[in-house]
Amino acid sequence: MEPLISQAKTMHHSLIEIRRAIHRYPEIGFQEHRTSQLIRTILQSYGVEILPLNKETGVVGIIEGKQPGKVVALRADIDALPVQEENDVSYQSQTPGVMHACGHDAHIACLLGAARLLVQRRNELKGTVKLLFQPAEELFGGAQSLIDQGVLAAPKVDVIFGLHTKPDIPVGKIAFKSGPLMAAVDVIRITVQGKGGHGAMPHTTLDPIVAAAAIIQGAQTIVSRQVNPLDAVVISFGSIHGGEANNVIPEKVEIWGTVRTFCPQLRSGMPERLRSMVTHIAAAMNTEVDMMYRHDLPAVINPENLQKFCRQSLEKVVGAEGLVAAFPCMGGEDFAIYQQQTPGVYFWLGTGSQSIGMDLQWHHPKFDIDEGALPYGAAALSQLTLDYLQDFAD
Ligand code: NI
Repeated sequence: MEPLISQAKTMHHSLIEIRRAIHRYPEIGFQEHRTSQLIRTILQSYGVEILPLNKETGVVGIIEGKQPGKVVALRADIDALPVQEENDVSYQSQTPGVMHACGHDAHIACLLGAARLLVQRRNELKGTVKLLFQPAEELFGGAQSLIDQGVLAAPKVDVIFGLHTKPDIPVGKIAFKSGPLMAAVDVIRITVQGKGGHGAMPHTTLDPIVAAAAIIQGAQTIVSRQVNPLDAVVISFGSIHGGEANNVIPEKVEIWGTVRTFCPQLRSGMPERLRSMVTHIAAAMNTEVDMMYRHDLPAVINPENLQKFCRQSLEKVVGAEGLVAAFPCMGGEDFAIYQQQTPGVYFWLGTGSQSIGMDLQWHHPKFDIDEGALPYGAAALSQLTLDYLQDFAD
């Protein structure tokens, strides 16, 4: 048969149509009703069976091959972001304040394209394919919600593949690496309790603002002085609140931050490192602290033993020169939740084109993709599936 990428390229126009239809009506996490309906309608038009779910958003399709075998899951996230679109394009978001600014509209089009290609090759398929259209990736709850609804079981999924648009990688290329790709995400909240008073008489107060400033500075020295510089860690504080007036020292200050790591051991030690730093600085300033540390997501780590397989399969789609090394990124992805349950591989689809100004980063109000990437995404997902079912058949 014709290579999948050639077949995918003949579907280019319909992939663009799908992507734009989704782009026009973005919906944020767990509110993807219209999006889910559109996905169901398109899957049904391809003859794909839809599995019943308890939740209203998210769709799972299933393609049974003509021969029994392993089970491959393919995952696309389907939610948009609370961003006001600033692109002046025909397919601009029609919903004020909501936008597909992370390219999940493209993920949907790629997975629907893969579904269509796989249905056409049902006779060759040695096993089963589950198509996971997952809600609420941006809220980090969507993967868990699908897992809770049993999508990785009965039949049990043997491997899961997923992709993400990548604006700094040119269209026609795919970036892949084994090992850590995206970081674990933790959340920290620190409340500094002092004693308020007049700003002109600081000696009568216990100033939580000065203590908070020292805590923020001190936390950065965990990164620079306590952790091996070859182990990546980020501590960023994105919110700090305390006080109302210029001359009043408040009673307390609240600080929120995010902690990103790859290494699981480093991650598990971070709460204690931070707690020690924060409580000692606070005590030195005669203030008290309360600290909350929450693990939100593990890191996305691609299994080493699938490296060779993935390279060979993806090279069929983009050629040896099109398959480039992915650089890890400290962003988080709830694809990691699936990888806790089943082997999974996540990779980046080049969607950037500097010449047409499509190189802005994720979540930017002018984020857009070069739609020439869509056939590569559809072909990559379907190629990995066909090859896995073939190579790993018992
Ligand atoms: Ni995203």
